[in-house]
Amino acid sequence: MLSAFAPGRIELLGNHTDYNEGVVLSAAIDLGVTVAGERLADGRISLASAGFEPAEIAPGQPLLRTGTWMDYPLGVVAMLRADGAGVGGFRAEFSSTLPVGSGLSSSAAMEVATAVFLRDLFGLQLPALEIAKLGRRAENDFVGVGCGLLDQVSSVFGRRQHAIFLDCRTETVERIPFPAGVDLLVVQSGVAHALTGGEYDERRAQCFEAARRLGVPALRDVTSAGLSSAPDLPDVVRRRAAHIVGENERVLEAVGFLRAGNIAAFGRLMAASHESSRVNFENSTPELDLLVEIALRQPGVHGARLTGGGFGGAIVAAVDSQVVDGVGNEIVLEYEKRTGIETRITHCRIGDGAVPDA
Ligand code: GLA
Repeated sequence: MLSAFAPGRIELLGNHTDYNEGVVLSAAIDLGVTVAGERLADGRISLASAGFEPAEIAPGQPLLRTGTWMDYPLGVVAMLRADGAGVGGFRAEFSSTLPVGSGLSSSAAMEVATAVFLRDLFGLQLPALEIAKLGRRAENDFVGVGCGLLDQVSSVFGRRQHAIFLDCRTETVERIPFPAGVDLLVVQSGVAHALTGGEYDERRAQCFEAARRLGVPALRDVTSAGLSSAPDLPDVVRRRAAHIVGENERVLEAVGFLRAGNIAAFGRLMAASHESSRVNFENSTPELDLLVEIALRQPGVHGARLTGGGFGGAIVAAVDSQVVDGVGNEIVLEYEKRTGIETRITHCRIGDGAVPDA
């Protein structure tokens, strides 16, 4: 029996910047997906996960999209085989400590766990960045979601008590110590988030349109000043671009604040990021807005924002460790009282990625 673990991630700043060749700050958490299994000599692929229908693919049977959880591992197998990697039959059983549909990237965790598992099972040469890119290809070309590299890179490269600073153009990763004494709370809005819903791809297309109208290869190449002086942009296009441009600038500023241990300034950028999601990118929801509003009112909370794709899912708040439990309770109480929606709070520790020493 062989096993592999890959964590979920929290996006700290840099919302929707990844597919715009921008910069992102994130962290791997100590919750994730574990896969255990062995080779099957007869060439079958047998997949199981607690609470879901198991599946079996006969040798020689083409790997096709099913529209279920299995697409994540199957997508990884399909991409590896397309590259000519010797992936034979195997049995794999998945288990997860990550809430599904919560914006913590359970799908990337499943892809990365599968890739590491198959690497070890079949002795494949797969450097860390290739694992992340393989997961993204599985998601783009097999599952059919046009996501960027953020989730998979965070799941691969995460390191305890460090933020991940990813430059999506140069595909370089840096780890930046995260200040001690600050904890991350993830609060579910209770409204499921699904990237396959279409809004994500629509935002992506709007960003590409903005870059085209601005005459640059990607929104990465635009500054706030450049955007303000650009004439004749339709309002929606300008707001979408403003979000990406602002996020890139906030990430670069935030790296300096993290290095200086200035969590108050970092927190203010988180709040500004959420406001830009709400107004410019329109990927927030009334529930996420309410959670952020409640969180920001609590003493000991430095910042709060939606995390991940948006359109539902969760917020993340940076909170003084000493008061984190009390703050969590207050947020839950007030949110449930005002909305009647049951929520869940996860006190996340920044954990190691699947390949923490890469
Ligand atoms: C999802 C995608 C990522 C990224 C974020 C938004 O998590 O999978 O690639 O685009 O949304 O920043």
